[in-house]
Amino acid sequence: MLLDLIGDRRVVFFGGKGGVGKTTVASAAALALASRGRRVLLVSTDPAHNQGHLWDRRIGDRTVAVAERLDVVEIDPARTTDEHLAQVGETMRAMMPERLRGEVDKHLRLAAQAPGTHEAAVLERIAGIVTDDARDYDHVIVDTAPSGHTARLMALPELMAAWTDGLLDRRARSEKLSAAVRGLSPTGKDTVAGRAEDPVDRRDRRLRRILLARRERFTALRETLADPDRCVFFLVLAAERLPVLETVEFHAELTASGVRVGGCVVNRRSPADQGEFLARRHDLEEGFLAQLRTELPGLPVVQLPLEAGDITGHEALERFAVRL
Ligand SMILES: Nc1ncnc2c1ncn2[C@@H]1O[C@H](COP(=O)(O)OP(=O)(O)OP(=O)(O)O)[C@@H](O)[C@H]1O
Ligand SMILES: [Mg+2]
Repeated sequence: MLLDLIGDRRVVFFGGKGGVGKTTVASAAALALASRGRRVLLVSTDPAHNQGHLWDRRIGDRTVAVAERLDVVEIDPARTTDEHLAQVGETMRAMMPERLRGEVDKHLRLAAQAPGTHEAAVLERIAGIVTDDARDYDHVIVDTAPSGHTARLMALPELMAAWTDGLLDRRARSEKLSAAVRGLSPTGKDTVAGRAEDPVDRRDRRLRRILLARRERFTALRETLADPDRCVFFLVLAAERLPVLETVEFHAELTASGVRVGGCVVNRRSPADQGEFLARRHDLEEGFLAQLRTELPGLPVVQLPLEAGDITGHEALERFAVRL
């Protein structure tokens, strides 16, 4: 059922609270799609990566093939943040007068620790993967970090694009001003920053290019996220009281940021026929499932059973994937 809900959509997100089974479900889905002949890239955005443990091998910031037609990459948040800040720094230094460069460096050192920086960096990386690398794959499956983080991530492209627009606007205004100043001088040239090969002009052009490229990347991501034919988000949860409440909130946040939720994946369902203890849990879960269905009417619900064994390695994942 889950695979039907994915259909031909290229970008598939799995999100939810910590430990509910996002990594397991995302990987099983990726494996199932690959075994049906699709080329799949599985991306982990969680700073505490688990893909390596799951596939029983080292996976890092470079794409690794773990099965036929299935590649995996773990976005390295520290490296991504460093690269991101280096670019932002270059942009900021170009915007600021020479004497403020020390301030820019100080700001960047603080920014590296600030909340939001990490998300922005990861977002920029996802944007790159979704808009560029996605060309080589039929599906990009994103195994996300626990909910709060991801909800912000989804709202972020808008904010980032607006921020970049603000900077571009400011540049446009200051360019107009310097053009006007040039027009005022008797030779038609501004003696300070006039000639075509002037370093200030060159710097401005370069800055514009950087800002426009970032803006395009965020806009492309935004468009993909908001396009229900290209992107779908699944909420993974356990059939328990708090996870159900949080899932309802998460659904509202995603919908508000224009992301289509394709369904809920209720993982680790207790069996009804394996003794009284589990049967009682099963009944309890039924109640929470009913609540989920009432709160999110019409949203497909996929149920996956609690497995007796550990789900690690290709074979275990393949067995679990049959349940999808
Ligand atoms: N249906 C299941 N039956 C039994 N064990 C499961 C099931 N689904 C997941 N697990 C196990 O639960 C643990 C947590 O799963 P997983 O790592 O997929 O969760 P997660 O949501 O990605 O966690 P995190 O938020 O830390 O990234 C793993 O050891 C996994 O093997
Ligand atoms: Mg995980």
